Amino acid sequence: MEGLQVLGLALILCMITTQTSAQYYSLTVPYESSPEKTTNLHFFFHDTLGGKNPSAVLVARPNITGGPSVAPFGSVFALDDPLTAGPELTSGVIGNAQGLYVSSGQDIPSLVAYFDFGFTSGEFNGSSISVFSRNPITKYRA
Ligand SMILES: *[C@@H]1O[C@H](CO)[C@@H](O)[C@H](O)[C@H]1NC(C)=O
Ligand SMILES: *[C@@H]1O[C@H](CO)[C@@H](O)[C@H](O)[C@H]1NC(C)=O
Repeated sequence: MEGLQVLGLALILCMITTQTSAQYYSLTVPYESSPEKTTNLHFFFHDTLGGKNPSAVLVARPNITGGPSVAPFGSVFALDDPLTAGPELTSGVIGNAQGLYVSSGQDIPSLVAYFDFGFTSGEFNGSSISVFSRNPITKYRA
């Protein structure tokens, strides 16, 4: 019972501090003495929209006139993109990314994407990882 009261007080204090600072994250602290190991994955993702062999295709788009945009707001694409070890497609396919993306920005073009990265070679053959996030395409153009 006393534990619950302490928890309740802690929650109230928490709410008070959040209200004053409007901060949604804590201080970042080192994750000490972790038995976990880290592997950095590094590969290239080839998304080809259009042409003879597209790896991404338009599934649906709104029936409003969307101007000259390839992907007006509301367009949905499905993809099956090769992943390679190097920047060239000839550098060896090590897996594929399957999923979809939707054109989700009304004012600034951006996408929300769901990708499942599946590996078909090496130590992680048969494993996959999923990413579901937004992609502000106009922000990071090379
Ligand atoms: C959009 O769909 C509606 C309902 O089917 C139709 O009446 C309208 O003509 C369509 N608009 C365009 C631009 O195709
Ligand atoms: C990946 O795993 C599959 C299924 O176990 C196997 O058939 C294939 O030969 C493996 N590929 C490589 C490059 O190791």
